[in-house]
Amino acid sequence: DLSQSDPAKVAASRAAVALVRDGMKLGLGTGSTAAIMVQVLAERVKAEGLNLRCAATSKATTDLAESLGIKIETLDEIGWLDLTIDGADEVDPDLHLIKGGGGAHLREKVVAMASDRMVVIADPGKVVDQLGAFPLPVEVLHFGFETTRKLIRRALDTLDLGQTEVLQRLKGSDPWVTDEGNLILDLHLGVIPDAHALARALAAIPGVVEHGLFLGICDLAIIGKADGTVVELD
Ligand code: A5P
Repeated sequence: DLSQSDPAKVAASRAAVALVRDGMKLGLGTGSTAAIMVQVLAERVKAEGLNLRCAATSKATTDLAESLGIKIETLDEIGWLDLTIDGADEVDPDLHLIKGGGGAHLREKVVAMASDRMVVIADPGKVVDQLGAFPLPVEVLHFGFETTRKLIRRALDTLDLGQTEVLQRLKGSDPWVTDEGNLILDLHLGVIPDAHALARALAAIPGVVEHGLFLGICDLAIIGKADGTVVELD
């Protein structure tokens, strides 16, 4: 029931779903904001009989969408997408993002980069001047996990970010395991002075599968407000 949901997230979701046209190929994001967007989308599909092809960025989103009558296909069945709508943990003025708070940033990045357009939906609390207060999620392989953690620490040292805590994400007392079967390290950076340099350094470590920095991927951010209005950043 959307009347019980955060009005800022509902407003952003409605504005993003208004961009959907009949016949589109869509990527559906993950998280609490994306979950509201999927509900809004399902309402439109039902009311207007829209014919869409949809790929999801997580098992959670697949389950939610299918429970609401939206058929999910694999990305490869669909091929290239017109539009992906997803949440974010932080958005900066250049539309650079931190994602992965929900642990889905690997599939989210694959889907976003297979789309003509990526639109982020968020509440005002996600908008920041500089990225980094939100811990940066990094998906890493089981194999050589501690070695990868050491290499990440070494890379952070080189970038003068040596004070960073690099914490394994847990679910209860067990390791968090992603949809792709990998582990997550959360980098408590505080600030990221040079996001491109950090992204390059992390991507150069073989055990790193993908980090949560989305640089130059988002085309439009729709920030919903509690009064139901939205602000667009592009
Ligand atoms: C999922 O892995 C994340 O990238 C989400 O998009 C992000 O955590 C936003 O989630 P909320 O909408 O729940 O804040």
